[in-house]
Order: sequence, then C-alpha cells, then structure tokens
Amino acid sequence: MILCFSSPSPPTSHRLFTEFSHSFKRPQLPRPCKQQKRQPGGSPRASRVVAYYGLKKPPYKLDALEPYMSQRTLEVHWGGHHRNYVEGLNKQLEKSDVLYGYTFDELVKATYNNGNPLPEFNNAAQVWNHDFFWESMQPGGGDMPQLGVLQQIEKDFGSFSNFREKFTEAALTLFGSGWVWLVLKREERRLQIIKTSNAICPIVWDDIPIISLDLWEHAYYLDFKNDRGKYVDTFMNHLVSWNAAMARMARAEAFVNLNEPNIPVA
Ligand SMILES: [Fe+2]
Repeated sequence: MILCFSSPSPPTSHRLFTEFSHSFKRPQLPRPCKQQKRQPGGSPRASRVVAYYGLKKPPYKLDALEPYMSQRTLEVHWGGHHRNYVEGLNKQLEKSDVLYGYTFDELVKATYNNGNPLPEFNNAAQVWNHDFFWESMQPGGGDMPQLGVLQQIEKDFGSFSNFREKFTEAALTLFGSGWVWLVLKREERRLQIIKTSNAICPIVWDDIPIISLDLWEHAYYLDFKNDRGKYVDTFMNHLVSWNAAMARMARAEAFVNLNEPNIPVA
C-alpha cells in the first residue's frame, strides 16, 4: 500500500534534502511524478512529495502456520524485522522525493541501480522479498504441485524429487544470509533455482520469481535453532504454497511463452 502526501518542506527537511543531494552521486532517474503547488499569492512554489509504504499483512493469521512455523516466529519476523525494513525505507525516502512515483517493483529495480545499489535498496528489496515470501506459504501447504507447475518442473528438472533435492541443496549451501528462489528465466524460457545473498531480489535481473525461501537466521532460529535442514524440509513438506506458484506461473505465461507458439489456423 502506498500512502502519498504532498506538503511544503519544513525547513529542517529541506536542509536534509539539500545535504543528502550533495552527499550522494545519484543516477539520473526518470521522475514520473513531479508536483508543484501554486500558492494563493499566485507564484508557484516547489512542494515536497513523499511516498510512504505500509506494512502488508501475510495472507493468513499469525498462528495459521502452526505447528510448522510458530506464531512467535511470525510476530518477530513479520512484526519486527519486516516492519523495520518498511520503517527504515520510509525514513530514507522522506529525505528526498527523487524516488517518488514508482511502483514497488520499479523502486527495487531503480535502487539496485545496475549493481551499484543506492542506500535505499536493501530496505526496499527486503520489503519486496518478505511480501513475496509470506505469500509463498499457506496453511496446509507443502506436498506436490499440480498441473502446469508440476509439468514445467518435470520438464526442467527431470522430476519433482530431483527439483526438491536441488532446491534443498541450494538452501543448505547458501553461505550466510540470503534467499533461495524458484524463478522463471525469461530468455531461457525455463524454471531455475537460484541463490541470492542478503537482500538481492531476482527481479533486478528480470527473472520472474515463483517461490522463495527466506534463509536469514531470523526466519527459522526460534523454531529450529540452527538446524537449517529441518527448516527447509518443513517448508517443503508443510508450508510451500503451490497454489501461489500456480497463480504466478499463470501470470508469467503472459510474458514468457513456455511452449511452441500455437498459431490459430484460419
Ligand atoms: Fe526475513
């Protein structure tokens, strides 16, 4: 959710904006929304436009993933860590309006800045990543995908068990904090498992994420201590939402043709 406010800059904020502008060499980003407020006296006066982002709720209650992911983990992970990323991002954005007007996807890509991330990138990407992660799980999840997702996994990985083995291996070999993803590669027109470090999100490379697993310790320490393997198995057996994967694949197929072109014959 984006809440937008337009107001004249208070002197202190204006000073922050001026100092901030000079302390970072920012790329020339397109400015999709620039507003000027005309004052009652008639002369235009620059106004400051700030976008604030809200903390999006998971699509289930915080105790709905019990006993596989505890309410306490959701309270700390969503209510603490995720909230901190949102609030940290808003604090950064209020210093400048240069990033105003983007969709959230665009904000993540713009702040990634072709591999030279701007200061806002880590918070923006972690907000995106966590929104996506909550929706990658569901109560009563796990088991196997069906229909098109299963067919595509079998086509690209040989079998579902082979996919699961490779996904688990990627999760266990990720060094430090980060994420494991099942993504659809646009150019290759196939599914692939990738690992990303820290806050990196695959949309910066134009991949289409289908499923993600948070591998920061804050995601599993309360429930599994340092047993990352048990966390990954629990995710696969009881939490992953293949329904979400199916919906995401269906949307992705509007952009990526996974089959040979089917040209209607007149
Ligand atoms: Fe996390």
